[in-house]
Amino acid sequence: MLDVETIRGRFPALGRRKNGQSVAYFDGPAGSQVPESVAEAVAWYLLHTNANCGAPFATSRETDATLASARRAMSDLLGNDDPDEIAFGPNMTTLTFSVSRTLSQNWQPGDEIIVSRLDHDANFTPWVLAAERAGATVRFIDVHSEDCTLDQESYTNALSEKTRLVAIGLASNAAGTINPVAKMAEQAQSVGALVYVDAVHAAPHQRMDVRSLRCDFLVCSAYKFFGPHVGILWGKRELLETLLPDKLRPAPMSVPGKWMTGTQNHEGIAGVEAAVDYLAAIGGSPDEAPRRERLNRAFEEIGRHERQLSDHFLRGLLGLPQFQVWGITDGSRLGERVPTFSLTHSSKTPRELSEQLAEQGLFTWSGNHYALPFTETLGLEPNGTLRVGCLHYNTIEEVDRLLESLRAIGASPRRHA
Ligand SMILES: Cc1ncc(COP(=O)(O)O)c(C=O)c1O
Repeated sequence: MLDVETIRGRFPALGRRKNGQSVAYFDGPAGSQVPESVAEAVAWYLLHTNANCGAPFATSRETDATLASARRAMSDLLGNDDPDEIAFGPNMTTLTFSVSRTLSQNWQPGDEIIVSRLDHDANFTPWVLAAERAGATVRFIDVHSEDCTLDQESYTNALSEKTRLVAIGLASNAAGTINPVAKMAEQAQSVGALVYVDAVHAAPHQRMDVRSLRCDFLVCSAYKFFGPHVGILWGKRELLETLLPDKLRPAPMSVPGKWMTGTQNHEGIAGVEAAVDYLAAIGGSPDEAPRRERLNRAFEEIGRHERQLSDHFLRGLLGLPQFQVWGITDGSRLGERVPTFSLTHSSKTPRELSEQLAEQGLFTWSGNHYALPFTETLGLEPNGTLRVGCLHYNTIEEVDRLLESLRAIGASPRRHA
């Protein structure tokens, strides 16, 4: 059982209050809160070992060691064996633009790429723009509107010997759907296409293993998994080595340096390792088991707790018929989703709902959440959805408070015309 009370004690932000009541953070999909240990690692780096990389003096050597150690931590989180396959960058979007520009140097008219209509725009527009520039054709994976899963038939139909790349999300940041990436990657491989996985939304919720996902690249962002604002790119070594990203002449030609343009956010990278260690500690102390094993246990416990939150929230929503849930609602299918929910109300806009919830200290998001392909496809523009996202530090009591507020707000008359 996840010890949620102890966990919550590690996050100073969770002690915040509004009008004498604790606030509840359901805004995790836009960025998680950070445990004290992560902030301490960032501060320690800045106060004691701040330097640029590659010089023979102590702080520079320590900085090199910090980056190498953070790469090992990310390898443990992502399940790859070679830490040099891990590159850091400002965020997932910037890294994806870089990979898309680089890969598309080899595309030409007649080539095709596949993107999904369930994805965040950061795993959509960079590929569409790159394809347009190369004269390649873009094909789309559709979404089933009834449960917001990917339409596998449209994927199979889009896939062919012409496909050069398939870009898919591991979990949707709007509907919470977990996509069957391993199966889809296997299909892509059978026609020789590369697979680029956006794991930004999945990272705080599920154990990742790039080998069993069978992808070629995977990207995530530490600020979604309790760390600082740093993006992370994993790619197979032979691809990272042979591809030619734009880089400055004095910058290294070796991996992963050639993918890391400019000076990195060293303090943030120190915090990335601390975030992985925070997660691993949920699965036990370092003297009990290696980090990978502890991460396995941690994500089992996190998953169990999060499914309870999902179950509780979805059951509660059954009594609120003015709300529509966009995504999987079937209690027997909770393993196919993370606890991220997109809702619409029969008369109130998502923004109105989010504003009223904020007044009660319940932090949610409204709009398209940058999952514009999704909101456009399901006819949810221009208002988008109310997004409620749970992380493992959320509690059943918070979900009850949210349901109570949704009940009251949902039934009250509109404030604006
Ligand atoms: C699923 C998903 N992909 C990509 C991104 C973009 O990540 P970043 O902010 O690191 O560029 C986000 C951010 O919200 C996201 O939720």
